[in-house]
Amino acid sequence: MTKTPTDQALFEAAEAVRARAYAPYSRFTVGAAILADDGNIYAGCNVENAAYPVGNCAEPSAIAAMLAGGGKRIKRIYVTGPGTMPVTPCGGCRQRIREFADLDVEVISHGVEGEPLVCTLEQLLPHSFGPEYLPK
Ligand code: THU
Repeated sequence: MTKTPTDQALFEAAEAVRARAYAPYSRFTVGAAILADDGNIYAGCNVENAAYPVGNCAEPSAIAAMLAGGGKRIKRIYVTGPGTMPVTPCGGCRQRIREFADLDVEVISHGVEGEPLVCTLEQLLPHSFGPEYLPK
């Protein structure tokens, strides 16, 4: 995959925030970087907890940063982690991304030492349930 300047900026933002991940239990650091509808990049890392299930993934941290910073929609998202395997969003994170992204948005899963995997949100979460199902 040839990275555009935007892709390179997203990758670097995900990697920079991954260096600040709090992952003393799994030692598996994850970074996420969102290109938002306001043109800005918002990033977040995983934050673990001694009570293991209470930990946060990187993707909701990035979503929270986006909302706090004034962005509303995800236009592109990178998820980075160690090793060669693409770090794909977990099931819960796919649904969290679904809340703020159209189905054709590309999710780039990247193990830093390997090749990125590019999937649309629809490929990652087929037949998904979303906010439009709920009555207004
Ligand atoms: N993790 C993420 O941050 N995002 C994902 O989509 C997959 C998993 C984190 C959670 C936990 O802190 C560590 O990776 C190991 O599961």
